[in-house]
Amino acid sequence: MNDTLKKAAVIGWPISHSKSPLIHGHWIKEFGINGHFERIALNPEEFVSGIRNLVAQGYQGCNITIPHKEAALDMADSISDRAKAIGAANTLVFKDGKIHADNTDGIGFINNLKQGAPSWQASGGTALVLGAGGAARAIIYALLQEGAPKIIIANRTVGKAHKLAAFFGDKVSATSMDGAANNLSETHTLVNTTALGMIGQPELAIDLSNLPKTALVTDIVYNPLQTALLKQADDLGLETVDGLGMLLHQAVPGFEAWFGVRPTVDKALRQIVLAG
Ligand code: ATR
Repeated sequence: MNDTLKKAAVIGWPISHSKSPLIHGHWIKEFGINGHFERIALNPEEFVSGIRNLVAQGYQGCNITIPHKEAALDMADSISDRAKAIGAANTLVFKDGKIHADNTDGIGFINNLKQGAPSWQASGGTALVLGAGGAARAIIYALLQEGAPKIIIANRTVGKAHKLAAFFGDKVSATSMDGAANNLSETHTLVNTTALGMIGQPELAIDLSNLPKTALVTDIVYNPLQTALLKQADDLGLETVDGLGMLLHQAVPGFEAWFGVRPTVDKALRQIVLAG
């Protein structure tokens, strides 16, 4: 059996906060793989040469985080459809000296909902997406892929919401943050993709009372795990899924590509990442 050391990393600037080593390190141990996963800080000037260096050193690939997600896409030799549509890469796979770029944020979002709310279906009705940044783009792409019939983007800067809606076409429309309130009664899936509600950020001011009782509410913020948005939804008896699972699920395809085993997201992993 070929048991040479397999290496992967997460690249960002800064990178010290990244939870990726906890996630991949846990799976490496769990499967008894001869593997190593590290954090590597690369500034924008050294990003391209730094990645080429990893390819030359025989790394399997890497996760990419802020601020390199667009640069990673630009330097790739091949790009998955979803990374192309999202316009950013969070996962690079190296093979035969070539770089393949993927984006697993959207599928991570969807798989988190499938695990946390097994009866939820994107096709069940309208999704109301709060925010129009990079995370919203990945999530909207994935919701459409999963069959969401209609998506409304609500954003502080309405122009950005309109631009994003136009990119995705007929099923997606835009409104202001205040306008979001008018769409609650037809919402099946409510997603916060902004940083509002995160520790140190202002609260997300939205009254959820007009959501149907069958609506699902989810947040990409996971610090705190139960945001004020999720608490409000919970108090109203609505189904909720927290944002930690998106972080864990987005790591699955990269690990599988680099180390050859598909890992699962379970309670033990959640505990390790929460404690880390
Ligand atoms: P990410 O890649 O995490 O999505 P981003 O691209 O910087 O980050 O997008 C941040 C999103 O959060 C945007 O929709 C932003 O609204 P604007 O487009 O109006 O900037 C939203 N956001 C951030 N801070 C906010 C605040 N204080 N109030 C309302 N929206 C906010």
